[in-house]
Amino acid sequence: MSPLLEVQNLETRFFTPDGIVCAVNNISYVVNSGETVGIVGESGSGKSISVLSILRLIPSPPGKITGGKVLFEGKNILTLSSENLRKIRGNKISIIFQDPMTSLNPVLRIEKQITESIQLHLGLNKNESKLRAIELLKKVGIPDAEGRIKNYPYQFSGGMRQRVMIAMGLACHPKLLIADEPTTALDVTVQAQVVELVKQLKKELEMAVIWITHDLALLAGLADRILVLYAGQIVEQASINQLYKNPRHPYTIGLLESLPRLTGKIPEKLPAIEGVPPDLTHYPKGCPFAPRCRFAVEHCFQEDPPLEMIENGHEVACWVKPEV
Ligand SMILES: Nc1ncnc2c1ncn2[C@@H]1O[C@H](COP(=O)(O)OP(=O)(O)OP(=O)(O)O)[C@@H](O)[C@H]1O
Ligand code: SF4
Ligand SMILES: [Mg+2]
Repeated sequence: MSPLLEVQNLETRFFTPDGIVCAVNNISYVVNSGETVGIVGESGSGKSISVLSILRLIPSPPGKITGGKVLFEGKNILTLSSENLRKIRGNKISIIFQDPMTSLNPVLRIEKQITESIQLHLGLNKNESKLRAIELLKKVGIPDAEGRIKNYPYQFSGGMRQRVMIAMGLACHPKLLIADEPTTALDVTVQAQVVELVKQLKKELEMAVIWITHDLALLAGLADRILVLYAGQIVEQASINQLYKNPRHPYTIGLLESLPRLTGKIPEKLPAIEGVPPDLTHYPKGCPFAPRCRFAVEHCFQEDPPLEMIENGHEVACWVKPEV
């Protein structure tokens, strides 16, 4: 069976007065129907730009997709006409963002915002689309959905707004939901509720999910597979079990070491990865992680390691691939 989404050698640049920002560098991965793929990496590692590139949503100029293919159900999104692209965006692929207020229109009632999208993509009439919107709000756990649908975004709490965003994202029954750090602004309890909700909906609706986060712990129990991004590259890609049991890229190892243990005593100070990521306008010659890497050998500063398969479904870009 061919994958739902196949990203091949994707490359995105920003052409700025200070130079060319190498934001996404030769990224390849697949997402199968019904599968959840987690993308993890620190701030600026290219998580958002890599998924925005999939939907051709990067600001252009200064951004430009300079290479690669994005096959969705076999068709290359990067060469689709704008009409065909619209049929996919917000319909077959939905995206929910970190801050709901950037995506919700503050001066429109929730009803209008959800039903417009349903009418546009599913062709339902006003009444039918209202009923579907209420059903969706109920599904995401908004109490008194019939009444609350008349509210404006500011009348909802942060957690409830996030639920409204998810309802909007699901309005057209997408085959792929992209969630770009949708819970970062929420407190831990609400965060857990939203994650639980997406897990449940995913099962019910059989949709694939790409979940972006800088928090590797959040992906446990949610993701089937994980892509670790560093300086716009995939440095490790593995099933969740492979990654937790046998992390082989020093950056992944560092991320796992900095997680508080789920059981046992929490250390007073969690080890953090020292140093900062490279400036993407001056992409380093060797491995981009080398200046921060405790396993680095001389060759690491000369040549960037390719992504290599070390076991079925587990790829690592590292010359050393230390076992810890
Ligand atoms: N409009 C832009 N112009 C120039 N550079 C940009 C622009 N947008 C993003 N970048 C650069 O692209 C790189 C990747 O950014 P991206 O937003 O994908 O990071 P991220 O991993 O999503 O980070 P965060 O966790 O902070 O959301 C960064 O170096 C960023 O500075
Ligand atoms: S290639 Fe070298 S510097 Fe890069 S992560 Fe591996 S050991 Fe560290
Ligand atoms: Mg981001």
